Amino acid sequence: MADNGFGRRESLYGAEYVGEGRTKTAGGLAPLEKKKHHGFASKLGFVLAAAGSAVGLGNLWRFPYLAAKYGGGIFILCYLALAITFGFCLLVLEIAIGRKTGKNVIGAFSALSRKFKWLGILALVVPIIIVPYYCVIGGWVTYYIYAFASGNASLIGESASVATSENCFNSFISDPYLPLVFFLVFAVITVFVVVFGVQKGIERMSKILMPMLAAIAVGLMIYVLCQPGALDGLKVLFVPNFEDFRFETLLAALGQLFYSMSLAMGIMVTYGSYMKKDGKITSSARQISICDSAFAIVAAVIIIPSIFAYSDNPDQAMAASGPSLMFVQLPAVFNNITGGRWLGMVFFVLVFFAALTSSISLVETIVAVLKSNGLSRVISCVIVFGIMLVMGTLSSLGYGPLSMINISGKAILDIFDYVSNSILMPIVAIGTCIVAGYFCDTRILMDEAGLLRKSTRTYFRIMVRYVAPVCMALILISGIFLDL
Ligand code: PFF
Repeated sequence: MADNGFGRRESLYGAEYVGEGRTKTAGGLAPLEKKKHHGFASKLGFVLAAAGSAVGLGNLWRFPYLAAKYGGGIFILCYLALAITFGFCLLVLEIAIGRKTGKNVIGAFSALSRKFKWLGILALVVPIIIVPYYCVIGGWVTYYIYAFASGNASLIGESASVATSENCFNSFISDPYLPLVFFLVFAVITVFVVVFGVQKGIERMSKILMPMLAAIAVGLMIYVLCQPGALDGLKVLFVPNFEDFRFETLLAALGQLFYSMSLAMGIMVTYGSYMKKDGKITSSARQISICDSAFAIVAAVIIIPSIFAYSDNPDQAMAASGPSLMFVQLPAVFNNITGGRWLGMVFFVLVFFAALTSSISLVETIVAVLKSNGLSRVISCVIVFGIMLVMGTLSSLGYGPLSMINISGKAILDIFDYVSNSILMPIVAIGTCIVAGYFCDTRILMDEAGLLRKSTRTYFRIMVRYVAPVCMALILISGIFLDL
């Protein structure tokens, strides 16, 4: 396929281009002097921020319920196999695109091929749709911290019964004010961190929050595993029953993978553009994927065995689980045990930190585009906050006063989630593979990524050109027709 000259004019795309006077490039005017590095100060900072973006509600809320739904062990096996192959390649690809071009998501795609500027715009639309509703769910998490901390059990269900817990959750999300207030709290904290910039805001925050996140997760896991009955939950989770394998299992694992790794939404391209030139992309990508998968598994080990340890009817709880696992089943479990109030609070603090580092990355992706259009960071943050305010309010009220706005029973938040995750993200992922595999010189991206061996280069090329687009097309089709 056509080479757009990306290969021949390689240096024009570097973030640190040193030019004699101003030179016209495909991505605009090249800078006069070697640019000062405004990105992450260290490799560790980059890895923690990117891992922080990857580890989020997807790991703590979505992964455990999918694992429970799709047969536990077999789902986890599929997930890990896909993470090592497909997920790793896509992650490397996005970071390499970002670092090679040194541009925000729109600039990066048009630098790869001018014909694909639209793809950058589409990739930008994804975080614009996601971040408002993500902050609404972040607000729910904040409310649960408050409810557990206040010790007012009536806020989350006075008894250990799942039905009371469910009533409390439903009356909370349909309240016209409460979810809105907590959404605002979460959104303000997110934007506040981004205002401080990449090094002083995002990197510093990730360096504080990620170790805390790991400590809380491991502490909770050990506690849960020491409880009688927890072993039954572990068996469900890890012993693979190959008879449970269905094509849907694979599709669900695939969908979860690119949701969890923050792919196809411009985040890794943007963070890649902030990465220093001397770090090796493959080793960073490996650390990010290991961190992401490890958190998902630890979350499942906290949640599923605690249901088995404390619930009167664990099988029924698992069957009914779905998305309500975190907000209905678990609070009922915490209400059941002595000291559950504190355990519940610590658990939701864990979820809060994970969601915060992810929402920060979503906001930064949009801010990077606004900034490159000449706006200051503060003004860019104010604009993003305005968008979040409007769309987040709609999402927040969608279960209460605005519940009449729905499409075949899907509330506003679920519609945003469906459009971004089931339609736009697969299209962006397919487009990314096509532009990188066919419309620019893939060799330059592989060089950037540090893929030097012939065998790994062939493997990477096959993944990007054939395997990944086909997998993503399957996700797109299943998302549209099966609503998986
Ligand atoms: N990877 C993060 C998570 O798993 O929560 C961030 C994220 C991904 C947010 C996809 C939203 C989303 F649709």
